[in-house]
Amino acid sequence: MAKVKTIYICQSCGGVSPKWQGQCPSCQAWNSLEEGRPEAATNSRFQGLAQAVPRQKLSSISAEDLPRLSTGLEEFDRVLGGGLVPGGVVLLGGDPGIGKSTLLLQALAQMSASGVNVLYSSGEESAAQIALRARRISLSAPHMEVLAEIQLEKLLSIMDVVRPQVLVVDSIQTLYSEEFTSAPGSVAQVRECAAQLTRHAKSLGICVLMVGHVTKDGHLAGPRVLEHIVDTVLYFEGDTHSSFRLVRAIKNRFGAVNELGVFAMTEKGLRGVSNPSAIFLSQHATMVPGSCVLVTQEGNRPLLVEVQALVDTAHIPNPRRLAVGLEQNRLAMLLAVLHRHAGIACFDQDVFLNAVGGVKISEPAADLAVLLAIQSSIRNRALPKELVVFGEVGLAGEIRPCPRGQERLKEAAKLGFTIAIIPKANLPKVKIPSLRVIPVERIDEAIEAVNEIN
Ligand code: TYD
Ligand code: MG
Repeated sequence: MAKVKTIYICQSCGGVSPKWQGQCPSCQAWNSLEEGRPEAATNSRFQGLAQAVPRQKLSSISAEDLPRLSTGLEEFDRVLGGGLVPGGVVLLGGDPGIGKSTLLLQALAQMSASGVNVLYSSGEESAAQIALRARRISLSAPHMEVLAEIQLEKLLSIMDVVRPQVLVVDSIQTLYSEEFTSAPGSVAQVRECAAQLTRHAKSLGICVLMVGHVTKDGHLAGPRVLEHIVDTVLYFEGDTHSSFRLVRAIKNRFGAVNELGVFAMTEKGLRGVSNPSAIFLSQHATMVPGSCVLVTQEGNRPLLVEVQALVDTAHIPNPRRLAVGLEQNRLAMLLAVLHRHAGIACFDQDVFLNAVGGVKISEPAADLAVLLAIQSSIRNRALPKELVVFGEVGLAGEIRPCPRGQERLKEAAKLGFTIAIIPKANLPKVKIPSLRVIPVERIDEAIEAVNEIN
C-alpha cells in the first residue's frame, strides 16, 4: 500500500512545508504549522476565472448606487454601512457565546417579517435548537426557513433552487466540501468553502452572512485569506461579563471601517443601544484616583470611555505592565515619555491599565488619558469629575491633535462635562458655552493644568 504523504500547512497563511518547522517559511509566523494531507488539484478550482467578463471601459460601465437591504436592526445596519448589499458577503467573527448566532437569527427574523426571502443554515445547532432559541427570544417569523447542512455542494445546490435573498451560514468552519479529504475547519476546507460560497453568492446576487470562529489570540480561525475573500469583516467584541456587545467593521468594501454597532444582551436577545456614549463610564458617586474620562471616536460616533490605571509598588525585579482594552506596547512607550518629559518615574512600580466596559481602544487619542490616569494613581489624587481629555502623545513629549476634535468636544458637553484638556491644535473655532477648554502642547503642561484645577 502506498504510504500517505503528509505535509505541514500554515494555519495563518496557508503556506505548505514538507517537514515540520517552528516557523512558517512563507509568512514567518511561529508555531502555525499543522499536519495535513496534500489536496489533489480539482478542475473546478479556477472556474471563476474562466468565466471572466471581457474588458470594458471604466467610463462605459453603468454603476448605479447599490440598493441596500435593511436588516431591521438599526445598529447592525450602521456597521454594515447602511444595510446589506445584494451579492455582498459578510464574515462575522467573535468569541464563542458572545452572540453571533443570536444577532443573525434576529436580523433574519426581522427581514423575513418584512417580506425578504431568507434562509438560515446551521452546522452548529440542530433545527430544533434554533427554533427553541427563536421561541425563547419571542421572534415571530412564520416564513423564515432553517436548515441544518454542513456539506458545501448540497448547500450550493439548495441556493440554486431556493434562491434566498439572504443566507446565513453558521459557521464556515463546520462546512466541508467533498472534493477535499481534510477535516472540516482545516485551512484548505475553510478557504475553499468560503471561496466557492462567495463565488456562488455573487453569481446569484445572494447576500451571505458567514459566522467565523476565532482562535485563542482573537484572530479569525483559518487562513487570513478568508478576510481577503469576503467583502465585509465584522468582529464581535465585549466582555462576556458585561451585557454590552460591540460589533466593529474591520474591513468593508461597501462602507466605512471602524464603524461601531452597540448592543445590549438581554434575556430577550440583543437590543440596539442607540445612544451609547455614556455606557463605558463606571458609575462612581465621586471620582477615584487613577480614573480619567476620554472621548474616543469610533467611526462616525464619539464615545466617552473611562480609562483606569493602578500604579503600585513592584515586588519583583521586573515590574509588570498590563493593559486590558488598550495597547500594551504603547503603555511601555508612554511610561518612558512620562519619565523623560514630565519627570514621573515608574521603573519600580507595577502599572495596570483598563478600559471600562470591555471596549477595545486602538486610537492614539487615548494617550493623554492614559498618562493622566497614571499620574493620578501615583499621586493618589482623583481627577475632577467634570474633566474629559483626548490627545496623542509623541515621543518628544508633545501633544498631537486628533481628528474630529470639535465633535468630540460637543459630545462631552452634551453629557455634562465642563472641563476639557485637549491638544492645542484641536482648539475649537466656535466656542462651546458650557465647556472650559484648556489647550496644551506638552505632557508636562497637561499635568500642570490638571494640578491647577484639582
Ligand atoms: P450565541 O448567539 O449562541 O453565541 P455564539 O453564536 O456567538 O456562540 O449566544 C449565546 C449567549 O448569549 C449565551 O451565553 C446566552 C446568551 N443569551 C442571552 O443572554 N439572552 C438571549 O436572549 C439569548 C438568545 C442568548
Ligand atoms: Mg453560535
